[in-house]
Amino acid sequence: MSHQFEVVVIGSGPAGYVAAIKAAQLGKKTAIVEKWLKEDGETTWGGTCLNVGCIPSKALLYSSELYAEAVHGFDTHGIIVNAPKIDVPKMLARKDGIVSQLTSGVAGLLKGNGVTRFEGKGQLKANKVVEVIGADGSIELLEAENVILAMGSIPVEIPPTPTDGDVIVDSTGALEFSEVPKRLGVIGAGVIGLELGSVWARLGSEVVVLEAMDKFLAAADGAIAKDAFKSFTKDQGLDIRLGARVTGSERKGKKVEVTFQDADGEKKEIFDKLVVAVGRRPYTQGCLSDDSGVKLDERGFIFVDEQCRTTVPGVYAVGDVVRGPMLAHKGSEEGIMVAEIIAGHNAQMNYDAVPNVIYTHPEIAWVGKTEEELKAEGIDYKSGAFPFAAIGRAMAANHTTGQVKILADAKTDRVLGMHIFGAGASEMIAQGVIALEFASSAEDLQLTCFAHPTMSEAVHEAALAIDNKAIHKM
Ligand code: FAD
Ligand code: NAI
Repeated sequence: MSHQFEVVVIGSGPAGYVAAIKAAQLGKKTAIVEKWLKEDGETTWGGTCLNVGCIPSKALLYSSELYAEAVHGFDTHGIIVNAPKIDVPKMLARKDGIVSQLTSGVAGLLKGNGVTRFEGKGQLKANKVVEVIGADGSIELLEAENVILAMGSIPVEIPPTPTDGDVIVDSTGALEFSEVPKRLGVIGAGVIGLELGSVWARLGSEVVVLEAMDKFLAAADGAIAKDAFKSFTKDQGLDIRLGARVTGSERKGKKVEVTFQDADGEKKEIFDKLVVAVGRRPYTQGCLSDDSGVKLDERGFIFVDEQCRTTVPGVYAVGDVVRGPMLAHKGSEEGIMVAEIIAGHNAQMNYDAVPNVIYTHPEIAWVGKTEEELKAEGIDYKSGAFPFAAIGRAMAANHTTGQVKILADAKTDRVLGMHIFGAGASEMIAQGVIALEFASSAEDLQLTCFAHPTMSEAVHEAALAIDNKAIHKM
């Protein structure tokens, strides 16, 4: 059967479902196509982020943080409890409950906004026709004035450690361990490796992270990465091996032996579980017919311009399937921009003000340029930093690790970057995002009144420190 729509979206992750809702809100007759089936055969909405990404990982991070606090932190406050125990199945059930609440919430939002849902795999054909093949083999054709491609991404696999869904797993498997692995290996000290490595380390796993690069968190500001590395390895016992290139793996009964090369030569480690977290790649397989006209770039992303237009007029692509950081909020903002453009409005996105957060404890968050980037680009800058150790609220909460660092243009005083390592950094970084978005100067932050006692006072002091005016410095 054939249907006509003004907008058809393929993929219901945070990029696709937000684009669909926005297009419908702007009065467009909109459809969305999703192929993801749960174990019970029902379609699930919300993509990677809601089903196996942002939300379930944060649920486990929060639970495991509370557990670690109960084990190691209560005593400092004079709270004496019996040795806490962990009920992993209950923790996973809580996580699954949150996922199911949110994914059905997305289905409800789509319905409530009048978006027509099609269940099956969508393929873009020539002339903006989307073919939807259902799980039962049924075929529907959607003729679209505009198509938004939002098929997202999937984990990268590496030949030495093929995942088996049992002992060697990707991030999805690492959200499902039914008991705490005694020894957990993680390949990749990136965002997933650090977040999911932290979850299981807090619950009692001995975690070894094998990272190919010599530099820890190369994308983050060097000073922040250095602080974080020290905290994770010295205070939290994560065994992060830099410059460790994995070359092979072998199943040994229920365990796996991993071979890797580092500066000293070849080494082997045995793990109960191994998580492969070496990046994600755009997913386009079987989603574009040969005559669709949509071109990919050399890395397999759908090629788009600054406003997410593909090489075919009326076809847009957003989220993980296009260049830029693979982040839910980046995809959602692109989705909104494209819906506005389709509705005939002027819209653009400020890619310079997309925040990054790593939800470890303490959290790492940044927006804008790092000091290393400013140096490489030859931009004359000034810098101010302030440690949480000198913040009253941080002492009261026992969260004194880390710092806020702010970078500003040496001539114009404009804020160019904010970098935070500290408890609650994910919330505090919004101040940096607003500063960048509003083109604030460091002086604007200096002249702003911050509530006392708050962790955010470190933002104020870091801004003051740029001109050597911090009040509480030693
Ligand atoms: P996706 O969320 O991947 O959604 C794409 C959807 O399209 C999927 O539902 C897929 O089934 C569907 N689809 C694909 N092809 C077709 C087709 N042909 N027909 C029909 N449907 C199709 N980002 C953050 O910003 N913050 C976080 O805290 C965070 N945590 C993460 C934790 C983990 C463990 C992982 C794996 C990722 C995390 N991310 C996080 C990244 C985030 O999940 C992605 O950036 C985000 O989901 C991308 O959104 P998207 O809509 O582009 O794609
Ligand atoms: P990543 O790109 O963050 O990190 C991958 C790491 O693996 C890198 O440090 C890389 O050097 C290393 N690596 C690559 N190949 C290797 C090998 N053969 N041996 C050892 N190390 C190797 O990718 P990750 O962690 O898989 O996450 C994928 C994406 O998901 C991220 O880019 C991020 O955008 C998104 N994400 C975001 C989160 C957030 O915003 N908090 C949380 C989780 C994921």
